[in-house]
Amino acid sequence: MKLTEHVPLASFTTFHIGGEARFFAKVSTEKDIEDAIAYAHEHTLSIYPLGGGSNLLVPDRGVAGIVLKMSMRNIVYEDDGDETLLIADAGALWEDVINIATARGLFGVENLAGIPGTIGGAAVQNVGAYGAELKDVFVYADVINSATGLSRRLTHTEAAFGYRTSFFKEHREYIITRVALRLKKHSIPNIAYPDLLRAQVAGALLATPEEIARSIRIIRAQKFPRGDTQGTAGSFFKNPVISRELADTLAERFPDMPMFPNKNGTVKISLAWLLDHALSLKGFSMGRVRLYERHALVIVAREGACAAEVDALSQEVSERVFALTGIRIEREVETFGGQ
Ligand code: EPU
Repeated sequence: MKLTEHVPLASFTTFHIGGEARFFAKVSTEKDIEDAIAYAHEHTLSIYPLGGGSNLLVPDRGVAGIVLKMSMRNIVYEDDGDETLLIADAGALWEDVINIATARGLFGVENLAGIPGTIGGAAVQNVGAYGAELKDVFVYADVINSATGLSRRLTHTEAAFGYRTSFFKEHREYIITRVALRLKKHSIPNIAYPDLLRAQVAGALLATPEEIARSIRIIRAQKFPRGDTQGTAGSFFKNPVISRELADTLAERFPDMPMFPNKNGTVKISLAWLLDHALSLKGFSMGRVRLYERHALVIVAREGACAAEVDALSQEVSERVFALTGIRIEREVETFGGQ
């Protein structure tokens, strides 16, 4: 493992923002991770695993510990009757996983096409889009506990997935090294999400995983900024999950606001809709950052923007939502070292 010092992190994130890592190492083997853990223990440093940096805001002050760029990318698959187990190293690009799965006609991840980042990050975040979530196909993750140095395998139940969260997100000392997904050779396409239904009406073919992935990428390209031209981390905030009572009150005030009841009685509401239609904040800018014109949940950063500007915009948006609805919105995007 080669440890370098004072490494600027901006270029390792899709926001293109943030300060330096005090220590930085590209890790390609489990031995590399173990060595980094040993070094961190010896020097009382925190460890920050870094995937594709696509859901991350690095603070301007940087990160005092060791950033581990997960660089192992192997993907293998095991045939299992009507299913295939796909096992990918944590640093494997999520798009590579999608391409391998869809090229083989395997169902399960096609609705999650076009999401930047790595499979490790996807598991931490329980990525979700267009009616699918990673948890629907997750089987296990191999992890190393950076506090104890011990390796183990976590099952689906232990992974405790929720809306954009997981055991891994809540217990950052666990570093994911490998993720296994169960994909199906035959399935009914999952195309009930409104955007997909609209694509079908417009003539898109949506029978095979490859066709669905292609349509999803087209839909995403219309809504989300391209990360290589503008700094962004996708949805910056989570959709709020609120009580039935509050949802009923809001439904009276905002009858057109999309709402999604959960099985446990809570209701997920569309924050993008609120920001756009109730608060007219689409395109709202502060300094070099703004809410994207095509999707109000997305913060876009111009070249040279800093994390403090993102924090200021985020704070302003949160206050306006609170003043309007009494809801305290939460970030989806993570910050190394906490907000
Ligand atoms: N809408 C507006 N104005 C906007 C954007 C959306 O009124 O500016 C409306 C849409 O018309 C729709 C509703 O809001 O009725 C929901 O919009 P969308 O389908 O785009 O979904 P979302 O809830 O805003 C979530 C995920 C996205 C994911 C999409 C599609 C979160 C925080 N975001 O967005 O995930 O791609 O659904 O499934 O759950 C991400 O996590 O980074 C991400 C991009």
